[in-house]
Amino acid sequence: MTSKYSRLDRFISKKTNIKRKDIRLILAQKRIIINAAIATDLQQIIGPFDKVVFDSETLQEQSAQYFMLHKPVGVVCANHDKIHKTVFDLLNPINDSQLHIVGRLDLNTSGLVLITNDGKWSKSITSPLNKVTKEYQVELKNVLNNDYIPAFEKGMYFEFEDLTTQPAKLKITGERNATLTLTEGRYHQVKRMFGRFRNPVLKLHRSAIGKLELCNTLEPGQHRPLSSSELQLLLD
Ligand code: URA
Repeated sequence: MTSKYSRLDRFISKKTNIKRKDIRLILAQKRIIINAAIATDLQQIIGPFDKVVFDSETLQEQSAQYFMLHKPVGVVCANHDKIHKTVFDLLNPINDSQLHIVGRLDLNTSGLVLITNDGKWSKSITSPLNKVTKEYQVELKNVLNNDYIPAFEKGMYFEFEDLTTQPAKLKITGERNATLTLTEGRYHQVKRMFGRFRNPVLKLHRSAIGKLELCNTLEPGQHRPLSSSELQLLLD
């Protein structure tokens, strides 16, 4: 995944091989159009989704894409896999090399997966600093009890990463069922947290990211573009 931001003079120079020192004159001649407006500032930052036209030739035109997908168990969150279907196989025929997964799920986890070509957006969702919640429905092998709740809330020390997990909200919904809300996505985090109680996770399903819920809107394996109001929900 690359998210490219570049100064206008560098961008034009790279795309056209014109020397950077000559671009000032080209700008003054009003030959560069960005998003339908004449460019006036050499230092303007060009993002991956800005349309740039030079002397009527389009140098860049790419739209941002945002999808939600219902990942079934047995599908892998990877670009390629020799054995299993990948989420990108499910996205076919949408084909964009910049598309990437916003927070992976394990092979045997189902649920909501976001996919985009907008690196800035995916970082804002996965960064622990932004505390975007991820909600999981968990089915466990052994019976739960109320001792779990403060342990999840307090956080657990993960020696491998040398960090303590952020406060997590555990709601016990049945003898062996719970809803867990995390604000980060550490490697196998849910399984490792229940592992502290020697309680294996039998089923794991991501039901929501932020305020965006999977509900019953998509069958396993299906995907659809996010609406602008859903995009807004995620950033709230
Ligand atoms: N935590 C896990 O253990 N697995 C997942 O797939 C997601 C969160």
